[in-house]
Amino acid sequence: MIVTIDGPAGSGKSTAARGLARRLGFDFIDTGAMYRAVAHSCREAGIDCTDGQQVTERARQLAIGFDGALVLLDGVDVTRELRSPSISEEASQVAQHPGVRSEMVRQQQALVAQRDLVTEGRDQGTEVFPEAECKFFLEANAEVRAARRREELLARGVEIPLEQTLEQIRQRDHRDRTREISPLRAADDAIRIDSSSLTADEVLDEFERHVRNRQRD
Ligand code: DC
Repeated sequence: MIVTIDGPAGSGKSTAARGLARRLGFDFIDTGAMYRAVAHSCREAGIDCTDGQQVTERARQLAIGFDGALVLLDGVDVTRELRSPSISEEASQVAQHPGVRSEMVRQQQALVAQRDLVTEGRDQGTEVFPEAECKFFLEANAEVRAARRREELLARGVEIPLEQTLEQIRQRDHRDRTREISPLRAADDAIRIDSSSLTADEVLDEFERHVRNRQRD
């Protein structure tokens, strides 16, 4: 079974997807980490992330893999480097390029190979796995998402004013929702959940309830 979870930055997708995969005994793919890995690699190589041709060439050369919660780039653990606010910004830019998107989609589809999987991102239910048996679209209002992102960064010792985090979230939302290729949107058959006033455990319970119902159908 394939379960897709799409939604904007800070809606709680990663936490929910990881927890759900654990509860179900499924594998998990964080596709945002793949775009982040491309951005990281471009930065290391001195490639301008607005240069679609060069970024696409780079993306095609990369081997992005997962080992549990770790993200591997050409076999090297880059998990920590991928979470900085500047990489968030650059990942959102590299994700605009059609060539990068088609390469990431190809790699994501190749990762599946008959496995039970929870996958999260922006286009998983709409473009990458349109046949998925269970699709979710997780939302939350921008203020709540900014506060969560700030907490997450504080826990890693990075302090950014709330207004700045909110502005970054709004800019990324705008870019992700209005890009020409695969903009962020809910699939017509996705179950929509608003996590603004839910705890992480409540979101997880809700997801699990829906998946178990689907498994019984
Ligand atoms: O989920 P995240 O914050 O790690 O994603 C980083 C960026 O990658 C985000 O701004 C949009 C992009 N992205 C995408 O375009 N498609 C996906 N399936 C996942 C992420």
